[in-house]
Amino acid sequence: MSLQLIGPFTQLITMADMPLKGALADEQLQIIPNAGIITKNDTIVEVGDYNTLKEKTNQKEVHFVEIEGESVCLPGFIDSHTHICFGGTRANDFAMRNAGKSYLEIAKAGGGIWDTVQQTRKATKQDLVNNIIKRANHLLQLGTTTVEVKSGYGLSVEEELKMLRAIKEANKTTAQQLISTCLAAHTLPKDDSKNHAEYLQHIAEHLFPTLEEEQLTTRIDAFIEEEAFNREAVTPYFNKAKEMGFAITVHADQFSTGGSAIAVDFDAVSADHLEASGDKEIQLLANSNTVATALPGASIGLGVAYTPARKLLDNGACVAIATDWNPGSAPQGNLIMQASCLATYEKLSTAEVFAGITYRAAHALRENNIGQLKPNFKATFVTFPTKNYQEILYQMGRLTPNNVAVDGKLVFQAK
Ligand code: NIG
Ligand code: FE
Repeated sequence: MSLQLIGPFTQLITMADMPLKGALADEQLQIIPNAGIITKNDTIVEVGDYNTLKEKTNQKEVHFVEIEGESVCLPGFIDSHTHICFGGTRANDFAMRNAGKSYLEIAKAGGGIWDTVQQTRKATKQDLVNNIIKRANHLLQLGTTTVEVKSGYGLSVEEELKMLRAIKEANKTTAQQLISTCLAAHTLPKDDSKNHAEYLQHIAEHLFPTLEEEQLTTRIDAFIEEEAFNREAVTPYFNKAKEMGFAITVHADQFSTGGSAIAVDFDAVSADHLEASGDKEIQLLANSNTVATALPGASIGLGVAYTPARKLLDNGACVAIATDWNPGSAPQGNLIMQASCLATYEKLSTAEVFAGITYRAAHALRENNIGQLKPNFKATFVTFPTKNYQEILYQMGRLTPNNVAVDGKLVFQAK
């Protein structure tokens, strides 16, 4: 493909070269008015003033992609934590929770994660592929151009493989990049007589080698919680995963603390949830390389406190924001809507929110060529039909993208 000049954009926010950690003010945003992007194949060559770029380019060699009307352009959004590979629904859990039942009571009554495990096991691999594609297409229209997708509703070697193979297969069709994670350590399967440690040992021995062989994932996650896995059970599991070169990520401090300390001890790429984190946990995360990922969708879905994002940022942590889209606690996937809610409760600046869903989320996934609009990064961006970037969070999801580009190609345009 030849050179392309894409634009003009009324405002383009590069999110380039901003601090990886800590609080941000909106004045730190690099906003280019009347901007353009020159791309070659899937990559950005230059970002700058549209007219200057137009004059500079040899008009015969460049293909013009005109953006009509008002538009604010940002790097495509990165949802670094989802569970969009699942079968069935948990609508009844939602109703029971709102009728006053606890997570545990719901699980005992046949709901909870185990319910989704059974519904996911019933689905064929192709059913799961179709579900992922449908959900990913919807996310694309909301501006999400990278989606992390976890397994964790299989909970046996074969069923986890089915999920991870489905994610790999779906990635061939979805416009956006899917990044898979193995969450076999989600909960102890009820149909297995092994204890927690034995189950994880079995998974490490019999699943990890195939993950490597078939290149199904480079990431291992565990849910650390009284109801799920504790430090003792997870230590040999994470040791084995690290030995084999997998990156570690943790479902941490959702209902009780402990998970974030394990994440930091294992130099995890991210610790996600953190609704229960206190000052001690905040300090640990702020002084580590582990990205603290807030999941406002789970707080909204369960009606519980938000992750202390303000305190994390003020203490110097790298904070990402993701949806946790799953059938139980966060049955939704609108990253902008959820991030706006987190911003109002936690008093986050627009810069902090945009960072949390672009370059800081890229860092949570250790992806180093997405999340910023600058040379040598992927030409992956989203535009909104407005002339003022503040409208995006202010409208809390009502304003939706008019263009989405992945790897230099416009893959969605609103009619
Ligand atoms: O991230 N907390 C554990 N796992 C999921 C919930 C999964 C489910 O309820 O199906 C989460 O919130
Ligand atoms: Fe989750």
